[in-house]
Amino acid sequence: MPEQTLYQLIGGESTVAALCDHFYGLMAQTPQFQTIRAMHPDNLQSSRDKLFMFLSGWLGGPDLYVQQIGNPMLRRRHLPFAIGTEERDQWVACMYLAMESVSIEDALRKKLLDAFFNTADFMRNKAG
Ligand code: HEM
Repeated sequence: MPEQTLYQLIGGESTVAALCDHFYGLMAQTPQFQTIRAMHPDNLQSSRDKLFMFLSGWLGGPDLYVQQIGNPMLRRRHLPFAIGTEERDQWVACMYLAMESVSIEDALRKKLLDAFFNTADFMRNKAG
C-alpha cells in the first residue's frame, strides 16, 4: 500500500472544500478575526476558491492552484498585506476552529496545525 497523502487522510476534496468554507465563514463572523477580515475583499468567494485550490496541492492532492493560476509564490503574494504576529495568530486561530468544524481527527489536526503555523509564520513581513 503506498503511503496515503494528508489530502486522502483528511477525506479528500469534500473535506478540503468544507475546511475553506468554514475558514472564511468564521473569518467573516468572528470579531476576533476582524483585522485579517478587513484585509480581504468584501466578497470572500474568490479568496475561498484560491485557498481551496492551493490547499488541494499543498496537502498532496490535485495541484489545482498551479494548474489554474500558476506558481503559488505564497510569500510574495502576501507582500501587499502587512502581516505580523497578530495577523498570523488570527489566521492560525481561524484555521484551528475551521479544522474543528470539519472534525479532522486529533493527531492529523495537530500535524496540520503545526504546518499551518509554520506557513503563516513564514508570511510575516512586518515587525511585531
Ligand atoms: C499569516 C496570516 C495570513 C494573512 C493575514 C493572509 C491574508 C491574505 C489575504 C488578505 C489574501 C488576499 C485575498 C484575495 O486576494 O482574495 C490572501 C491570499 C491568499 N492566501 Fe493568505 N494570509 C495568511 C496566511 C496564509 C497561509 C498560511 C496560507 C496557506 C496555508 C495562505 C494562502 C493564501 C492563498 C492561496 C491566497 C491566494 C493568493 C492569490 O492567488 O492571490 N494564506 N491571504
